[in-house]
Amino acid sequence: MKVLVIGSGGREHSIVAKLASSTKVSALYAAPGNGGIADLATCVPIDVTAVEELVRFAKEEQIDWTFVGPEIPLLAGVVNAFQQEGLHVFGPTKEAALIEGSKDYAKRFMRTHGIPTAASETFSDAEKAKAYIAEQGAPIVVKADGLAAGKGVVVAQTVEEANEAVESMLVGNQFGQAGSLVVIEEFLEGKEFSLMAFVNGKNVYPLVPARDHKRVYDNDEGPNTGGMGAFAPIPDLKQTVIDEAVSRILKPAASGLAEEKRPFTGVLYAGLIETSNGPKVIEFNARFGDPETQVILPLLENDLLQVMQDVTAGEDPKLKWKDAYATGTVIAASGYPGSYEKQLPIPDLSGLPNDVFCIHAGTERKADGFVSSGGRILFIGSVHHNRAVAVESVKKGLDIFKDNPSFHYRTDIGFGE
Ligand code: AMP
Ligand code: GLY
Repeated sequence: MKVLVIGSGGREHSIVAKLASSTKVSALYAAPGNGGIADLATCVPIDVTAVEELVRFAKEEQIDWTFVGPEIPLLAGVVNAFQQEGLHVFGPTKEAALIEGSKDYAKRFMRTHGIPTAASETFSDAEKAKAYIAEQGAPIVVKADGLAAGKGVVVAQTVEEANEAVESMLVGNQFGQAGSLVVIEEFLEGKEFSLMAFVNGKNVYPLVPARDHKRVYDNDEGPNTGGMGAFAPIPDLKQTVIDEAVSRILKPAASGLAEEKRPFTGVLYAGLIETSNGPKVIEFNARFGDPETQVILPLLENDLLQVMQDVTAGEDPKLKWKDAYATGTVIAASGYPGSYEKQLPIPDLSGLPNDVFCIHAGTERKADGFVSSGGRILFIGSVHHNRAVAVESVKKGLDIFKDNPSFHYRTDIGFGE
């Protein structure tokens, strides 16, 4: 079968790599892909939001299945457009993806369906928002309603900081339309974890949990990023907590979306905090997480295309997981998530040890090697049944970037914390 993957990041490289190992896949395409993806798939220069062009390409090339990686094309209705043309596509419609596209909708949805989450209120008026903040006190969390590339969340330690966030979103239009509503949310204390599931209507097939590391520096210091590394599964997360997250969060979410006539097909992602009152939702996403996918797919034994087909057909894909541990660290450009340079020459990757894998997040291929094309550039990972061995392998892999002022990476990922 001919398969198209929409997207250009590390998540999409992982998806392409997994599909490349499928005996059912005869040809792989990526739109637009990246330097690493180009080793495994034909990259076609179509933007992820160019819905009509994507449909045209899929028809012309007679693509059998399309997998949508990022949220932006989902909310732009790429799945709706493919379905209208009778094309097989894996991902939610824009109506179902609203669970990610509007935090206000997601909060109302969770209240309606009794899904545990932080208490919150939504505002369009800055003065009313500030009055609520004054009443609640800090710490408190301010979130732009719409998509803001991971930058629309401010965990404010003081009332002043929260007021500033409200001011810049509602008055300063920092995120444009995406910030014309703000959700002000109770600060939840506890460890974070990401739990995803393949979903079709009310059917929910959970994946292994993973932990992302959003802060740019070691010990979770510095500003939030798109994710600096991840590991899976999570050694200190009890099975009872995972079971509770499935039964009280993922299953009611799938059923709730179906009841609201927005039935979800694809990967549903719950960003969770393990509070003293059980797991609670901090966000839903309508797609695979990045960089969680880079450690989850290497643990999946099943053929991903078969899983997509089974899930879509309403059949149990019977997910099987390697009894192993996967961890990986992102190589970012120095300065990221602030301003950073692009076109940085990347060291020769043939110098990486054999027991690590290398996923490209933001690279371009040049005649004499790769250069960077984004803030997050590569993901160096390892899979081993012994966690310490996996961590040590990644550490050795990172050595080729050591003391190179162009790059920055964390050194504390994978220890199970
Ligand atoms: P998000 O972009 O929604 O994933 O949020 C970014 C980060 O903000 C999360 O990874 C959490 O660390 C933090 N965060 C979001 N909501 C809350 C909350 N209600 N309580 C505590 N931390 C939060
Ligand atoms: N890892 C968080 C996300 O994909 O949004």
